[in-house]
Amino acid sequence: MKKRKIFALLLCMLCVMNLTSCGKKSENTIVVGTNAEFPPFEYIDNNGDIAGFDVALMKAVGEEMGYKVKFSNMEFKSLLGAISTGGIDAAIAGMTITEDRLKSVDFSDPYFSANQCIILQSGNEEIKTLEDLNGKKISVQEGTTGDIMATPDEENEIITDKSTVVKRFKKGTDAVLELKNGGVDAVIIDSSPAQKFVAANGDTLKLIEIDPETAEPEDYGIAVAKGNEEMVLMLNEGLAKIKENGVYDELIEQYFGDAEIVTKETSDNWFVQQYYTFKYVFIETEGYRMLLDGLLVTLKISLLSVLFGVALGMLLALMKLTETRKKHKTFWSVLAGIYIDIVRGTPVVVQLLIMYMVVFKSQAPMVAAVVTFGMNSGAYVAEIIRAGILAVDNGQMEGGRSLGLTYGQTMRYIIIPQAVKNILPALCNEFIALIKETSIVGYVAIQDLTKASDFLISRTYETFMPLIVLAVIYYIIVKGLSKLFSAFERRLRKSDIR
Ligand code: ARG
Repeated sequence: MKKRKIFALLLCMLCVMNLTSCGKKSENTIVVGTNAEFPPFEYIDNNGDIAGFDVALMKAVGEEMGYKVKFSNMEFKSLLGAISTGGIDAAIAGMTITEDRLKSVDFSDPYFSANQCIILQSGNEEIKTLEDLNGKKISVQEGTTGDIMATPDEENEIITDKSTVVKRFKKGTDAVLELKNGGVDAVIIDSSPAQKFVAANGDTLKLIEIDPETAEPEDYGIAVAKGNEEMVLMLNEGLAKIKENGVYDELIEQYFGDAEIVTKETSDNWFVQQYYTFKYVFIETEGYRMLLDGLLVTLKISLLSVLFGVALGMLLALMKLTETRKKHKTFWSVLAGIYIDIVRGTPVVVQLLIMYMVVFKSQAPMVAAVVTFGMNSGAYVAEIIRAGILAVDNGQMEGGRSLGLTYGQTMRYIIIPQAVKNILPALCNEFIALIKETSIVGYVAIQDLTKASDFLISRTYETFMPLIVLAVIYYIIVKGLSKLFSAFERRLRKSDIR
């Protein structure tokens, strides 16, 4: 019976896995890569969805041409590689058409014209032009044209001083945060996001335009695989159509018009200031919604992984126990031993990356995460269960067997009920560890609780409040769980004499 249940559970999991991986792209869907850290072109909105001018533009083009568009969020510098390997069909990310990029990908017709500009701390009167950045510290988003402009290499005619320090960040917002914290003197970034960043920071930062004589305006295009003429034609036709029918202008109005900007109240009293910050981060800019969504994701992953882990752990424990019963190594015990050894010997982040990138081929991240954490936890649970069973006095087994029960019956009616009490505290620890471990799923683009707070930092440039609240939420979950477990344990112990 028990085995059948485990089997059924595993089967269910396999079905879920199948379902999610079937949801891959079909004939009429194109997968478009972006880097949603670049407002107003692409960003994560209050619902945790990818939104922005580029996103709406791409959807409009798709609609015009009879394609469904699915977005995949990744690092900016990974986009070109993902196009070349076929992981995505196109990339739209405020990406400048450059000679260098044209060597590895093709571009659609330009759809937007932009400039680079410099962000400084408000008080900085020393820097006025791009040349002034020679010998200074500059932060940029890695792999962007701003990065190229800042880096003093052979081809750079303006920043020539080799002592110039360039700090490269995965996100534009992190580059700005570095400036705000005084780690660098300036940020070089495209003008539209720069305006958003400066506006979001009250009057602590300012922006200066770069003289068009020193740096030419840039054209943004949609990148596709080299030689994919069909796609280029499709995109160009779609772009032309939405320019003609007015949709393009509507989008410009919608994303570049004067957006209402929420600003934070300030106070000299530290406590009042924290209260204002809390209100700003979670209520006024609706951060609580992102956090709640993230919380749900974290709970979902943890719960499913625990179920999977316990089922697998029981199976592995039974496999290992064949050794105790037969008094010599068995095929099953060796197999389980190897599995546990490997899982315990490698970091769970590495397991997650292998599962997601290699096994699941970057599809269905949630399922990949549940399988990884389930498989990981299973190894630990197996040892907990095995130790719990072995801790039950040997006489219990002998007693059961001499009453005429089979090995299985003795296990089920006599040993396991006693073992459960030994197992519970350790199992509780394992669940707690598991919940906290899931905070690494951001690595595979899942928006869990930790990732949500990360987004809030990018969005509000506040670090203290989002992180403290994050810690408090994890603490409450863990505390609740351990309370639940001790209540359960107390009930089980009621019948104990000791
Ligand atoms: N226009 C610049 C470039 O092509 C920056 C683009 C950054 N885009 C982004 N989604 N992060 O390099």
